[in-house]
Amino acid sequence: MHSEPRSRILGTGAYAPEQVLTNLDLERLVETSDQWIRERTGIRERRIARPEETTSDMAHVAARRALEMAGLRPDQLDMIIVGTISGDVPMPACAAFLQRKLGITEIPAFDVSAACAGFLYALSIADQFIRSGLHRHILVVGAELLSRVLNWEDRATCVLFGDGAGAVVLGPANDGRGVLSTKLHTDSTLVDSLKIPAGGSAERITPESLARRRDKVAMSGSDIFKVAVKKLSSVSAAALSDAGLTASDVRWVVPHQANLRIISQVAQRLDIPLERFVLNLERYGNTSSASIPIALDEAVRDKRIRDGDTVLMCALGGGISFASALVRM
Ligand code: ACO
Repeated sequence: MHSEPRSRILGTGAYAPEQVLTNLDLERLVETSDQWIRERTGIRERRIARPEETTSDMAHVAARRALEMAGLRPDQLDMIIVGTISGDVPMPACAAFLQRKLGITEIPAFDVSAACAGFLYALSIADQFIRSGLHRHILVVGAELLSRVLNWEDRATCVLFGDGAGAVVLGPANDGRGVLSTKLHTDSTLVDSLKIPAGGSAERITPESLARRRDKVAMSGSDIFKVAVKKLSSVSAAALSDAGLTASDVRWVVPHQANLRIISQVAQRLDIPLERFVLNLERYGNTSSASIPIALDEAVRDKRIRDGDTVLMCALGGGISFASALVRM
C-alpha cells in the first residue's frame, strides 16, 4: 500500500538516573507532605542525576537505545534536534554535545526551547524535513536535568520535577504509518508565569540575584493549571480533526506528565478513558520535554503500544507553549 510520504517512528529509547528521590525524602527538605504531593499531582517519586552527569549524557543513553531499536548507526543520521531548557551549558546547544558523544560530525544539531512542549516541537520540525524529502533519518530527543535549575527551598516547584531523557528516531514511510498531524502554539499571555528569571539578557546574574534564587525555576502553578486543561484539550482535538480522525480512533494517549488532575480533566474533555492514557508521572514526576518520549518508550517496550496503533501526544509548558502530535506507529 502506498500513501503520501510521512515520517515514522523507527525506534524509541529512554534513560532515567538511578537515584530516586521520594516524597518522604522531600518532607525532610521543605515543608510538604507525601499526601499533599500525591493528592495535588499524582507524583510519588522522581529521579535525580548524579553530580557529574550532564543533560547530554542522559540524552546519549536514550539516543543509543532508540538507534538500536531502529537498527541504525549514528553515522546514518541526517540531523539531531534536542528539546531542552536545561542543556549542558547556556551555549552551545546540548545537541552539539550529544553529536560528539555519538561520534559523528557535520550533520546539523540544534536545540529547541519550548519547555515541556520541546519534544513535540522538535518532532514537528523533524517531520517537516523528512516529509519534504530533504532528510531521511532524524534523531529527536527530549532531555532535562531540572534538578540543577530548581530552587530546593521552594516547595511550590521542587516537588514537581525530575531528571531524564527520551528519544525517537524518525525515518521515511509511505505505508500509511507515521506522523499524521502536529500542532504547535504559543500563548504569551502567561509568559511570566513559568520562567527562570535571571541569566539571560533581561536580568543578569549577580550575587543578589543568586541569593534570591532568580537563576532557578519560578512558577505560578495555579495560573498554568487554569489554562492547561483547556489548551491541552483543544490542541489535541485540533490534531485529530486535522487528520480526519475522532477520539475513538485513538488507541493510546501519551500526555506530558505534569499533573494527574490535569490529565484526568483532559481525558474527560476528549472523552477518552483514562485507561487509554500512558501514565508514569507517579515514578518520574514532571521531566519537562523528556516526559513524553520516556512514557512512549515504556509503552512501546512493554508492548502496550503496538504496530499500527494511533497514538495522540500533547504537552504544555513555559511560554506558554503547547503542542500535539498524532502518530500511527
Ligand atoms: N506542599 C504543601 N503545600 C504546598 C506545596 C507543597 N509542595 N506547594 C504549595 N503548597 C501550598 C500553597 O502554599 C498554598 O497554600 P495557601 O493556600 O496557604 O496559600 C496551597 O498549597 C495551594 O497552592 P496552589 O498553588 O493553589 O495549589 P494547586 O492546587 O494549584 O496545586 C500545582 C499546585 C500542583 C503546582 C498545580 O497548580 C499544577 O500542577 N499546576 C500546573 C503545573 C504545570 O503543568 N506546569 C507546566 C509544565 S512545567 C514546565 O513547563 C517546565
